[in-house]
Amino acid sequence: MEAPEALAPGVFVVWGDCGITAGPCNVTSTKVRQGGGIVMRNRYLMLAFIAAMAVAPAGAIAQTVKVGLINTYTGPLAGPGEQMERGIKLYTKLHEKDLPPGVTIELIRRDDTGPNPEVAKRLAQELIARDKVQLLTGIVYTPNALSIAPLVTEAKVPLIIMNAATSVITTKSPYIARVSFTLWQSSYPLGAWAAKNGIKSIYTLVSDYGPGIDAETAVTKSFTEGGGAVAGSVRMPLTTPDFVPFVQRAKDAKPDAVFCFVPAAKEATAFMKAFGDLGLRAAGIKLIGPGDITTDEELNGMGDVALGTITMGHYSAAGDRPANTAFVAAYKAEYGAREEPSFVAADSYDGMAAIYHVVIGQNGKIDPDKTMDLLKGWKYDSPRGPIMIDPETRDIVQNEYVRKVEIVNGEKYNVEFTTIEAVKDPLHGVKK
Ligand code: PHB
Repeated sequence: MEAPEALAPGVFVVWGDCGITAGPCNVTSTKVRQGGGIVMRNRYLMLAFIAAMAVAPAGAIAQTVKVGLINTYTGPLAGPGEQMERGIKLYTKLHEKDLPPGVTIELIRRDDTGPNPEVAKRLAQELIARDKVQLLTGIVYTPNALSIAPLVTEAKVPLIIMNAATSVITTKSPYIARVSFTLWQSSYPLGAWAAKNGIKSIYTLVSDYGPGIDAETAVTKSFTEGGGAVAGSVRMPLTTPDFVPFVQRAKDAKPDAVFCFVPAAKEATAFMKAFGDLGLRAAGIKLIGPGDITTDEELNGMGDVALGTITMGHYSAAGDRPANTAFVAAYKAEYGAREEPSFVAADSYDGMAAIYHVVIGQNGKIDPDKTMDLLKGWKYDSPRGPIMIDPETRDIVQNEYVRKVEIVNGEKYNVEFTTIEAVKDPLHGVKK
């Protein structure tokens, strides 16, 4: 249903869309606009209007900010998507009360079903053109972020990335900011750490797409600069039913350590299983990588083979910080005492904090350029430690932690033992 146009300022109108049902019209969404008269299409709308007036404080103008959330809800690579949804819901539940009177955020959810750039592009197009969203967010997978970038530039709809982690993404549009991480941010310092800490050779195994290639390039650069040798490098298909042939090749090369990147969640667990089944630990080969390979929500299901894995990552459920203690307690209260939030849950929680920041900062009236200005330099006391959006690159600046998988109180955790503070994506300052 089209919105009534041309209303004078000061008064607002409520109207609704009817669902396709056999029976009376159901108002499936209500919308509010400032104007000079009141238009009531039917008695359901009248009731909605009266209800809205009853809750809106005197003088408040109702304002709904529409946010298109593109996430991976289904398909074999939906694991991080569930964590994203949980982080978003938790932040909303805890902070909805912080919105200015009359301001609401409407999340319009869409399922990209995995790393499917064509699907993601179509969803973004529909959200922008048909649903008229003012912001876009979510995005687990890099190919989807890259396919959407030209659209957000053209339409001037800011996109706040909650996961997709290939460095180049934020350079593709001035309307993209990232609250998650990049693989350069973790893998570059990890290579330097490994070279300094007794590892003389590595074998790299990465998923053959953006973040995997970034991880491989970054670790190779810093590890070899630190005097280490790369015994071999293999890029594996993004969805790999069986990691055994790749892990076997790594084992045969007899490196001190295997460096691995695969997408967080089920892929990481499958990789870990192959690492265990082929007996690399027994052969004295260590496992290192970015935090994606020991993602917290999967760790206890990975088996003891995960113990001793050294990763560089920006978030651990075991992180000993007041903001994290509160976050983990709220997460467990919401989702269950044995559930652990992963970095995707934490990053998406922070992504909602960024969205609230721009919505509150504009009292619900979203201007794209003002939104980007509010994001540039935004600082937040995150569960992962202090974070900031770099005003120049619109990318996240955050601590990276060296962690080891250990048992604490009977459960496996990424136990942080060294902190590298305020890491920017090194690619922005490093020549390849
Ligand atoms: C990505 O596609 O950018 C991506 C997905 C999952 C990860 C990291 C990066 O764990």
